[in-house]
Amino acid sequence: MKAVFALSAVAALAAKASAACWSESQGYPCCSSANAMVWFTDASGEWGVENNDWCGIPKAAASSSCWAASQGYPCCKSTSVVEYTDASGSWGIENGDWCGIVGGTTPSKPATGASTGASTGGAKGDVTVGSQYSHSGNPFKGHKFFVNPYYVDEVDKAIAQMSDSSLIKKAEKMKEYSNAIWLDNIENMNNWLERNLKDALAEQNAGSETVLTVFVVYDLPGRDCHALASNGELLANDGDMERYKTEYIDVIDEKLATYKSQPIVLVIEPDSLANLVTNLETTPACADSEKYYLDGHAYLIQKFGSYPHVAMYLDIGHAFWLGWDDNRQGAAKVYSKVIKSGSPGKVRGFASNVANYTPWEDPELSRGPDTEWNSCPDEKRYIEAMYKDFKSAGISSVYFIEDTSRNGVKNDRYHPGEWCNQMGSGIGARPQANPVSGMDYLDAFYWVKPYGESDGTSDTSAKRYDGYCGHRTAMKPAPEAGQWFQAFFEEGLKNANPPL
Ligand code: GLC
Repeated sequence: MKAVFALSAVAALAAKASAACWSESQGYPCCSSANAMVWFTDASGEWGVENNDWCGIPKAAASSSCWAASQGYPCCKSTSVVEYTDASGSWGIENGDWCGIVGGTTPSKPATGASTGASTGGAKGDVTVGSQYSHSGNPFKGHKFFVNPYYVDEVDKAIAQMSDSSLIKKAEKMKEYSNAIWLDNIENMNNWLERNLKDALAEQNAGSETVLTVFVVYDLPGRDCHALASNGELLANDGDMERYKTEYIDVIDEKLATYKSQPIVLVIEPDSLANLVTNLETTPACADSEKYYLDGHAYLIQKFGSYPHVAMYLDIGHAFWLGWDDNRQGAAKVYSKVIKSGSPGKVRGFASNVANYTPWEDPELSRGPDTEWNSCPDEKRYIEAMYKDFKSAGISSVYFIEDTSRNGVKNDRYHPGEWCNQMGSGIGARPQANPVSGMDYLDAFYWVKPYGESDGTSDTSAKRYDGYCGHRTAMKPAPEAGQWFQAFFEEGLKNANPPL
């Protein structure tokens, strides 16, 4: 990294720089986000660090485009009264929500406590972190669940494209339910983690209930090693592992340490350990990723597992992945080893069926040719069996959450292992703590996958095209993983079980 004095020597050249990417004229690129962390400030602006070099943090507020849109907020239509300012620009309030002021007037001083005026936008002003919160027992129990404003915005945009009034009514209901916030790359983590923690804290401070926020930690090097659709930004090599630790996990860790007075749940790295159980021998990319998956888990469990207000669930695939007897035995070994490697950090339990379609109960199925001799042909039987296996493997804290965002109906899948944008799927049970009486080890039904976001593109020429997204039961044309998929969303609303 360049020394700070080298920066000040060139700072004099700054005057001519353009507002959007002002640092280029000084020989430095602009940072990829207006929210990048500020490392240094001089006369020309704020500097961040990316790829081990300085980058200029774009002065978004001075631009004439609607910069707030990328953060899920509209731009202000009439107001120019600055209520709050942050790294991305100046914020006003219209219709009870935050809006970005375009062409930003420089605020004299940021207002604090503006959050009270905003109904959905939440906390832009300072919020007071209270005393340490500690989970005791079920981490989902006794809280209000935080509703992700980004998802509400996705649903609003979806509604704008719909004309059927009964469907619109169902879509409106979706805005009342909580789903998880995916930290699926470094930039999104920087954009979304703190902002949502702050919003949830403001809501908690304003009411009488604790407010729980659920995040998905999802950026391991060599991510999605057995498929292509969700390949990530970090590759399976030592350099990217270092970035995972320092630019991703350490940053999350710092925010978790700060926001200590509210309950937080983390779902850890979907699909990664399950791939180590079944795909090491068949898939070279999984063999290449193994040490990074293991090292990454040890590192993050040690850190996040030490906070009393944070509860972690490791992803365990789903019934038609690890449900077979030999796979469950393999899983017991892998997961107990991983949990030990993160000691003294603690793991609460396991997340099943994340972004998947396997029904909670499917009484018609039993072990036999139809299930390819899987003795766990539905999620309930899978979790019951995993509970026993993990307990016998000596894992002390064995609790589960089940992603019910898409398993409301049994759809006509080509094979029960189909995972990409399945036709005929429906929204499942609503998020709730202790959903099944007598199953004390099932902490919650929760929506981990935001319903309506794609599993993977069906464009055969795309870099992340995976054959599964072209199978005959996959809905097409489908956008890239994580992007909004309108037709899929509408189908889920129609098929919701229980109905919306
Ligand atoms: C997929 C995508 C990821 C997205 C997530 C939630 O796994 O790869 O980018 O955040 O789904 O929709």
